[in-house]
Amino acid sequence: MVRWSFARRALALLQLFYNPVDSYLDNKTGEVIIPGASSYNGLNLVPQMGWDNWNAFQCNVNESLLLNTARAMVDYGLRDLGYNYIVLDDCWSIGRNSTGYLVANPEKFPSGMKHVADTLHSMGMKFGMYSSAGVYTCGKYPGSLGYEQKDADLWASWDVDYLKYDNCYNQGQSGNAMLSFNRYDVMSKALNKTGRPILYSLCNWGDDNPFDWAYTISNSWRMSGDVYDSFNRPDSRCPCTETPCAWPGYHCSIMNILNKMTPITSRSQPGAFNDMDMLEVGNGGQSDSEYVVHFSMWAINSSPLLIGTNVLTLSPANLAIYSNPAVLALNQDPSGSAAVRKWQYFVNPDETGEGEIALWTRSMDNGDQVFALLNAGNLSMMMNTTLYDIFLDDATAGAYQAPPELSESWDVYDLWANRMSDEEAGSIINGTAPTIGANSNSTTRYNATATSYADGLMNNNTALYGSKVGTIGPGSQSRFSAMIDRHSAGLYRIRQASSTMRKRDEL
Ligand code: GAL
Repeated sequence: MVRWSFARRALALLQLFYNPVDSYLDNKTGEVIIPGASSYNGLNLVPQMGWDNWNAFQCNVNESLLLNTARAMVDYGLRDLGYNYIVLDDCWSIGRNSTGYLVANPEKFPSGMKHVADTLHSMGMKFGMYSSAGVYTCGKYPGSLGYEQKDADLWASWDVDYLKYDNCYNQGQSGNAMLSFNRYDVMSKALNKTGRPILYSLCNWGDDNPFDWAYTISNSWRMSGDVYDSFNRPDSRCPCTETPCAWPGYHCSIMNILNKMTPITSRSQPGAFNDMDMLEVGNGGQSDSEYVVHFSMWAINSSPLLIGTNVLTLSPANLAIYSNPAVLALNQDPSGSAAVRKWQYFVNPDETGEGEIALWTRSMDNGDQVFALLNAGNLSMMMNTTLYDIFLDDATAGAYQAPPELSESWDVYDLWANRMSDEEAGSIINGTAPTIGANSNSTTRYNATATSYADGLMNNNTALYGSKVGTIGPGSQSRFSAMIDRHSAGLYRIRQASSTMRKRDEL
């Protein structure tokens, strides 16, 4: 039995009052519903997941690439883990017709966009479209500036579900937040006017600080220049290491983008997320452990998770990373919040001259905490955290008060402990693995279409918790230690040891 202080009971009662029903999955729309939470258009209360062709294919797009990828994602269980948007990036059109409507390239899309959307929908997937808030897209195809309503209407008539909206060739309509806000707001209103629910994903690279204004008009916004497939190599074309940033650039490494999140994590909220850019896992520029860091840190920060590699040639090891349900449940947590970096020290620089260790922590909706011990240095290190580090913020909001969590014991679960073996992932790829349904007791695989992550967490589904590796507390200096290899991260969820039930159920 947990001992509750009066203040905590009052807080729990308040939460019960404001949030009387748990989040659930709307099976018709595939949206997660969190009663009481909202976004400007009601969509995307947890970060969007899916695939985007840009990182792996750039302009080499066509209808069969999209549909074959979607089929593989269904077969590999990726759709049922939540990856349900297929986003077509730049270079899909050939121009505008005499009435001003965009025309899809008939060689790349011989059956037309409506056919692509219909086929994706018949597979339980959704269709994402790309344009730019400029006169051209970044690939120099026609952009939507001045044509917002026409383009939104056309996409709605094709049954598009998502718009990625870039920033190239914007005619100088940027340079301060108001200019950018007004330009992106025109499309926001145009999309809403169509009456079709269309997720709106801004891609203005963190220009003019979208984390300060985009949550009232969109569902996510890129907070940095383009990612590239490097763990920490500095590149002059991505000059900023801090947010806000005067010139976001491109060729931004994983560590560069991650560290730019630190001042803006508080802006992530249900329905409106900082987008750290598409995932590079599988593209070959990083080691397995670096890809685990990339995936873990995007997940803990509530970034949209868009697979950015060729799914048709995905290796078992990379499928295992994309498919870790314990990490996905963290990303899809109804709290919609992002992590905070509690400390960072520079140690053991590697050949790039970079090297740091850091502790990131995040509160979960059900009272659990998640933390990441990140070793971006060159040597393996014994790393640790204390309960005080994890619950520091609860102690310092006003005059110091010991956080009540310090007097409790917490079980520590390693979220990567149950990563699928290459053998199991290989059996999924070659089609011999069993399908996973609602009542699966697999510790490695999960079906979030059958049972939402929120329900799975409530039922203590092992696949969502990983494996117990220790207990910490009570006591502020009680610590958890783990050996973390170079360019690796440990990712852990801690839960009150005396209870495996949700706190709300204990009232
Ligand atoms: C960039 C954008 C990339 C990709 C590319 C297409 O501006 O950040 O994600 O969409 O344009 O040209």
